[in-house]
Amino acid sequence: MVATLETTRPELEQDAIDHLWFHGWDMDWEELTGQEGLKVFARAKDCTLIDVRGREFIDGLSGLMVVNVGHGRREIGEAMAEQAGQIAYAASSNYTTIPAVKLARTLAEITPGDLERVFFCSGGSEAVETALKIAKQAQALRGYPKRYKIITRRGSYHGMTLGALSLTAGRQEEYFGPFMYGVSYVPSPNRYKNDFGLDGEDGDIMCARYVEQEIINQGPETVAAVIGEPVSVSNGTHVPSPRYWQMLREICDRHGVFLIMDEIINGFGRTGTLFAAEQFGVVPDIMTIAKGLSSGYAPIAAAVVRPGVFEGFKEEGASIGHLLTFGGHAVATAAANANIAILLREGLVERSAEQGAYLLAQLQQLRAHPTVGDVRGVGLLCAVELVKSQRTKENWGVRHPFTKSLGEAVHGRGLLTRVWNAMHFAPPLVVTREEIDRMVAIADEALTEVEAQFAGEIAEAG
Ligand SMILES: Cc1ncc(COP(=O)(O)O)c(C=O)c1O
Repeated sequence: MVATLETTRPELEQDAIDHLWFHGWDMDWEELTGQEGLKVFARAKDCTLIDVRGREFIDGLSGLMVVNVGHGRREIGEAMAEQAGQIAYAASSNYTTIPAVKLARTLAEITPGDLERVFFCSGGSEAVETALKIAKQAQALRGYPKRYKIITRRGSYHGMTLGALSLTAGRQEEYFGPFMYGVSYVPSPNRYKNDFGLDGEDGDIMCARYVEQEIINQGPETVAAVIGEPVSVSNGTHVPSPRYWQMLREICDRHGVFLIMDEIINGFGRTGTLFAAEQFGVVPDIMTIAKGLSSGYAPIAAAVVRPGVFEGFKEEGASIGHLLTFGGHAVATAAANANIAILLREGLVERSAEQGAYLLAQLQQLRAHPTVGDVRGVGLLCAVELVKSQRTKENWGVRHPFTKSLGEAVHGRGLLTRVWNAMHFAPPLVVTREEIDRMVAIADEALTEVEAQFAGEIAEAG
């Protein structure tokens, strides 16, 4: 008898279940590997993903906010193949290659202000580790060896390696603590539920003032750096006032503290400018970049610093205690060069601003749903906050059956995205208006369906 897909899994899916260890923690094993849950992708083009069963999905999250230029770009693959045929690897300790030099120069040109010195690595967490070590060593080289503390923001996400995890809100203390010593958390801008009960820009400004108080409280002579994501996705994609970031810049300068901006998601056009820092009118001392740097065609990331940060290292022979074997990998840098060329040639940054404005306007329609508390975003980085009650603004929680059902309803209709306390909309920058309309229609239908199932709870809480 010929087995059907309904009763038997394709062999690849079974192999994945038997041998792969998935990275996510928001779904349990049953959800992830259940008949409808597991998706082994076979191919993709632009914003569409196709799995081994032939099911098609709109990529509403660009993978993990990675694939900015869209899927299926042969041009990038060809640049990588060409480079692999020339030279794939040279020791990152003392040597480099043509595409790595070219990429460093391009990044010096396109990153804001005088950011101009690039330390390459392979992923976002490594970039954050790199930024931390640069900040600490640079402070010591300036004559401040006791400046080792880092100030990060509540609700933030900066990666999963232990240093980066120490700066990350959901760091699972019970398994992975104790963490890096000297980390403290401050409130993050949130115009929907501000920690101080303030509205609009006032709330952002209070968050900035809190940072200064924390530096003073810790003792400025002990603080190395403040780190934050310009528009924090993990914190719910709240867009702060430019004044917030400008105040942080002034505060850091006043106290000799480095400002690290984590543009791992925000960078490369995601927010409608090449880097989000541009919209806030600030230049950080250190910027971390990853994801959209290669649009996911190769694992590559970097920390980019200003001359003032590099100065001390230069005087010491430029050595930093930080050697990563794959940093500046020739094939990965070739991929990033080809990716940036596409991004600029096709005007995808401007397109992100335009399509993002359209997406945000369309998403506003969802406010008619009783479980939609807020709709916000910038560029192609938008979020719809989900609540039990618009009055109390209480979220359902990531593991609540409402959230799970909504996730299934959205995925079942062919839209891949993240449904946690907010539903995220961050498609590739090549997304069309038709695809945006389809995404919003799916979200609308899914909300209607799931709200009907949970009507009792919504009514009770409302
Ligand atoms: C803001 C931010 N920083 C750091 C990271 C860590 O990057 P990676 O997963 O490549 O290690 C992420 C990943 O999502 C991120 O969103």
